[in-house]
Amino acid sequence: MSRQAYRSALAHALADPASASAGEAVVYHPDGLLVVEGGHVAAFGAYADLAPGLPEGTPIEHMPGRLVTPGFIDAHVHYPQVDVMAAWGTQLLDWLHTHTFPAELAFADRAHADAVAAVFLDQLLANGTTSALVFCTVHKGSVDALFEAALGRDMRLVAGKVLMDRGAPEGLLDTVETGRADTEALIRAWRGRGRLGYAVTPRFAVTSTDAQLAMAGEVAAAHPDVLVHTHMSENRDEIAEVARLFPAARDYLDVYDRFGLLGPRSVFAHCVHASEDTFERLAAAGASVAFCPSSNLLLGSGLFPLKRACGCGVNTALGSDVGGGGSFSPIAMMGEAYKVGQLQGDNLDPLHAFYLATLAGAKALHIDDKVGNLLPGKEADFVVLDLAATPLLARRTAQAKTLAETLFMLSVLADERVVERTYLAGRLAHTRRGA
Ligand code: GUN
Ligand code: ZN
Repeated sequence: MSRQAYRSALAHALADPASASAGEAVVYHPDGLLVVEGGHVAAFGAYADLAPGLPEGTPIEHMPGRLVTPGFIDAHVHYPQVDVMAAWGTQLLDWLHTHTFPAELAFADRAHADAVAAVFLDQLLANGTTSALVFCTVHKGSVDALFEAALGRDMRLVAGKVLMDRGAPEGLLDTVETGRADTEALIRAWRGRGRLGYAVTPRFAVTSTDAQLAMAGEVAAAHPDVLVHTHMSENRDEIAEVARLFPAARDYLDVYDRFGLLGPRSVFAHCVHASEDTFERLAAAGASVAFCPSSNLLLGSGLFPLKRACGCGVNTALGSDVGGGGSFSPIAMMGEAYKVGQLQGDNLDPLHAFYLATLAGAKALHIDDKVGNLLPGKEADFVVLDLAATPLLARRTAQAKTLAETLFMLSVLADERVVERTYLAGRLAHTRRGA
């Protein structure tokens, strides 16, 4: 088995810094050694401690001026929305009808889906994202296209066919029965292949009938290994529409709960306007929330109350929500999350933001036994960040005295140029142009 060692600054999160002491939750080795063997982490620690025990002949690549971290995890993203990014002038419901549904109609064509899937995965890797929870479209072939492309790259990805049987153009609608048959067929076809996982994916309560939500709950219950992935409480007009469509439900979360869609493997994107009571019910169920700050700001959805969500004990991770979001970069998302906090009098600790973009995402996707940090035995999905990727970054990061300062500078000043390399299961999967 090939063994390779990397000498560099290293950082990873072992726990939520909000609940553990920050010093224990995030481990930092300014001069560290990461040893990779057979696609897995063999060792992670201080160079001075590990170097003497390294088996003779192990190649060591020395990477001064770099920071190695776990690959980032995007807990909510839409691959068919690459070409919807940066659409001007609308909020959620208008935006869906004006920009998003027309773009998603094109995924009836498998060749188009294949082409966009390749662009999408390349964008994830270029931004240091090694795992993601992904919306496809209503078309079964859109899922095949993404899974095939992810399998070819050996990415750990979770995705699903969108279920929507009302409230959208005819070409984007399935039915209860075709939605069930396609979802079952996709689970059968892709389960256990490579590092892929499936998520039952009702778009949101506005575009699924009661019967379809009930079917989604049944399919999820029949396959305990799949996730449930949907949107909730993103926008005030959307929330009013859900109240109109489901008059008997106590609130938005209750709509999903009634149909068996609330559980430990459920991920709810947004929850911008969720009440404390909703966060408490999410926490009690062991469900996760994907906080998507870039999207929430661009679509004018509102300010996610991260402090309240964390206070209620809900596992919260970061999502780009491309194409509502304006960037694929989890590092940029950490900065956007900070700004959303600032507008609510909450200064997000950069170490907490780093946790949200790595281990919290792995927990949301139920892959934290495999990725999310670089503990020995985990799959070696990691990124090499170039702290001097631009002259401004070089100048500012040279002045940083702590890991928190470095991470905060990156989150405010960096873009994808900071990601020099991305590794999947120990294999180089992306190199920055010119590096
Ligand atoms: N709610 C339902 N569909 C969508 C979508 O595609 N993007 C976002 N941001 N919210 C949604
Ligand atoms: Zn979304």
